[in-house]
Amino acid sequence: MTASMDIAQQVDLSALNTLGLPVIAAHYAEPTTIGELQQLLAEAHRQHWPVAVLGGGSNVIPAPYIEGLVIRYAGADTHLEVDGSSGLLHASAGADWPSLVATTAEAGWWGIENLALIPGSAGAAPVQNIGAYGVEIGELIERVVYVDREDSSVKTLSAAECGFGYRDSIFKHALSERAIIVEIVLRVSRNALPRLDYADLAQRVALPATPMAVADAVSAIRRDKLPDPQQLANAGSFFKNPTVPESLAAALSERYPDMPRYPAAGGVKLAAGWLIDRCGLKGFKRGHFGIHERQALVIVHVGGGSAQELGAFANTIAEQVEERFGVQLEQEPRFLGFPA
Ligand code: EPU
Repeated sequence: MTASMDIAQQVDLSALNTLGLPVIAAHYAEPTTIGELQQLLAEAHRQHWPVAVLGGGSNVIPAPYIEGLVIRYAGADTHLEVDGSSGLLHASAGADWPSLVATTAEAGWWGIENLALIPGSAGAAPVQNIGAYGVEIGELIERVVYVDREDSSVKTLSAAECGFGYRDSIFKHALSERAIIVEIVLRVSRNALPRLDYADLAQRVALPATPMAVADAVSAIRRDKLPDPQQLANAGSFFKNPTVPESLAAALSERYPDMPRYPAAGGVKLAAGWLIDRCGLKGFKRGHFGIHERQALVIVHVGGGSAQELGAFANTIAEQVEERFGVQLEQEPRFLGFPA
């Protein structure tokens, strides 16, 4: 047994969520190995502490005070297993996702370049199946390794077992209180396979493309539309794009012929940003929160607000969309450390 892990007490974690919400954790630790993580779980069990898992903090709404132990897995090794023109990219959960994309694309490997500049950690990426510009990480995942909180065993899931869907995976459902992801393994390739389905993106990339050129173009588009959380606190898209029945989509298309709509399993996917925008809410501000001026799907926090105020603000937005379009919006960021 190695020396016991440091557990800090009464820790201010406000800087570790990109929404910039105030948060104190009763106990906090950053294990860097699976062994350290297992020690922490044993200690939490002995002390009867509830456990909350924090990743890059870019998709969470934390409770103001978190009872129990917050664990942020900080192991961040990455390595590439090369087999001819294909590769398996191994990333420990604590690796910074945007840095991983940049180094992989720079080295000429195709696969994750469309997911450039998405803030967060590698370990959190499969939880919500991060996706942008026509690519979702679920398409590239070979396997996900996690520690099961029930018995501290290390388990591996294939991509099929992860149950990936739009902004969804098993880690939000059956394993949401059980899995602490420690490593992800992604398939990458030397063979050019530019994914330029988005008109915006295709326009910015000269052919023949390199992975870095695609990553740079995606980054430029994101910088145009999305606020940098370092400068203006936010958690990216605050709502998911809703899937509605064909009948409702048809009725709305008749009233709003320019409404964006995309085919989706079980109905038609609408653009939540467009719906919010059409309610006249782009740039809307109340208290310490607002709707971003360039992308209505993003709620920004100007500082001084609370999780509770954010909840009320988000409800106001969702209510207006529902009243006007009859569409219910679902929140995308996850709650962290609230009592069950
Ligand atoms: N739109 C508006 N007004 C707005 C925002 C969007 O009219 O304020 C319209 C756009 O003109 C477009 C449509 O809505 O016709 C879709 O907009 P966009 O392509 O910008 O993408 P999105 O659906 O709003 C999703 C993801 C983003 C991802 C982009 C690009 C979700 C919840 N969001 O946004 O992901 O970067 O596509 O692929 O699916 C995130 O999850 O944090 C995120 C930023």
